[in-house]
Amino acid sequence: MTVFAACSAKLEAPQIVPAPRSLEMGKGAIDFKGIAICCDPSVDSLSRFAVEQFSGCLTKVSGKKSYVTTGAGADKGLCFLKDDSVAPEGYRISITPKSAVVRASDFNGFFYSLQTLRQMLPVSIYGTEPDSRADWRVPCCEIEDAPRFAYRGFHLDCCRHFFSREEIKKLLDVMSVFKFNRFHWHLTEDQGWRIELDGYPRLTEVGAWRTGTMIGGDWESNDGIEYGGFYTRDEIRDILEYADARGITIIPEIDLPGHMQAALAAYPEFGCKGSQPQPYEVWTIWGVSKQVLNVGKEKTLCFLEDVLGEVADIFPGEYIHIGGDECPRDEWKTDPDCQRKIRELGLKDKDGVSAEARLQNYVTARMQKFLATKGKKIIGWDEILEGDLAEGATVMSWRGTAGGIKAASMGYDVIMSPTTYCYFDYVQGNDLVKEPFSITHQWSENKEWIDNPLSLDKVYGYEPLAEIPAEAQKHILGVQCNMWTEYIAEPDYLEYMFFPRALAISEVQWCTPEKKDFERFTSALAAHEFPILDKLGVNYRKLD
Ligand code: ACM
Repeated sequence: MTVFAACSAKLEAPQIVPAPRSLEMGKGAIDFKGIAICCDPSVDSLSRFAVEQFSGCLTKVSGKKSYVTTGAGADKGLCFLKDDSVAPEGYRISITPKSAVVRASDFNGFFYSLQTLRQMLPVSIYGTEPDSRADWRVPCCEIEDAPRFAYRGFHLDCCRHFFSREEIKKLLDVMSVFKFNRFHWHLTEDQGWRIELDGYPRLTEVGAWRTGTMIGGDWESNDGIEYGGFYTRDEIRDILEYADARGITIIPEIDLPGHMQAALAAYPEFGCKGSQPQPYEVWTIWGVSKQVLNVGKEKTLCFLEDVLGEVADIFPGEYIHIGGDECPRDEWKTDPDCQRKIRELGLKDKDGVSAEARLQNYVTARMQKFLATKGKKIIGWDEILEGDLAEGATVMSWRGTAGGIKAASMGYDVIMSPTTYCYFDYVQGNDLVKEPFSITHQWSENKEWIDNPLSLDKVYGYEPLAEIPAEAQKHILGVQCNMWTEYIAEPDYLEYMFFPRALAISEVQWCTPEKKDFERFTSALAAHEFPILDKLGVNYRKLD
């Protein structure tokens, strides 16, 4: 029995995640099997392509051909019309027994209308196998929908562990079902550099490979197995195109000036080790390396500008993430170049902010200025707030919500991704039977992972505007879930940690608070969303 068959028999409201802003049920239904589809000439070509893909899929699985034609007929079949009065990324669907009319003002709106329609059809629409016996009727209804937040992100650390192009595409596919529109791609780390750049080939020749990896949580161990990988420019372009067709903008992260040990293994001249360096190595253990870039040297800053310049040329989005988190400044305290730079810039220990922290500030501002010449804006982790942050930077609040509250109150744009609600590397419960992999976390020094599981209901309960002053709320661009992968090496486990918590975040990102209802959400998961994940071959944690 298909889920829809159950719905249509009683004409129940379809179960859609994230829940639409408004859905009013009418009487009767329209049959999508063999439905004629028409796109108004005003519909842009990328949206039309998405409609054609939907039509191809519907034809294949329903067993009856659906054609897409160009025209203005809105009284019969499934029609797509451009309507500039619809909110960005929003859509309206009006279904009567004769027609289903979709209106949107941009590509994401049309794309999300298709995602909503898919969720109203038998789950076989997510596959390629014919299912002609399924009930392809869709109940009459009026849907008006638009997102609460413009930034709806997910993040993936591809450095601690590397994930293939295919796995990334699979994630983009699944995330687009739930209307995520940003992929924050963490591409550089102490443990591996993953983006191929023309100007600095050793970043991937050397920096993408480590000689081994610590085992579990034992910092003294090493499995001795060479590990690594990187994405070529062509692979990145392919992934960018794939994301674009799903309404997802990719935000690359080049984490600086800390978390740079892999780059230093490739180019030790940008480090602080002085004239008799021990060779740097791509790090084989987890944690925060104290070996950071020597930002007192002009040539290091030029290296960063070269790197960011190439990255800005590859990625078309408006933002580049420049990291800025967890940069130990121990080396800078004694490094002659850094101390000279501090004197030159007249930086002082002041107001509880050290001269070295102000030096990091200088680097952030310089990269921000450089990227502005390329038409890009920066995002940084909330550490970039320390000292003086230049106007126009966007702050990603991860160490709880305080950084986000402060930044928004100061007039900076903010993306909320606090560990307390958005860190999906945290286990989902304490029950070892349900957390088959949590044994790895038990080796971790970070007891928070064990003592503070991040359960589905906790994620769902997150209210991103809590404690944000009313006048600063406009600065909260949105919400992002983060996936750090020290203890996540396999795609299956990665999916287990993302799902279904990513679906909970999708409602935090999309729905207004009054639309949220954990009971409705979990019943939709069980009845409808889990079968979708099954069909897409995605691993997920079952409900408690
Ligand atoms: C972070 O989790 N270090 C941003």
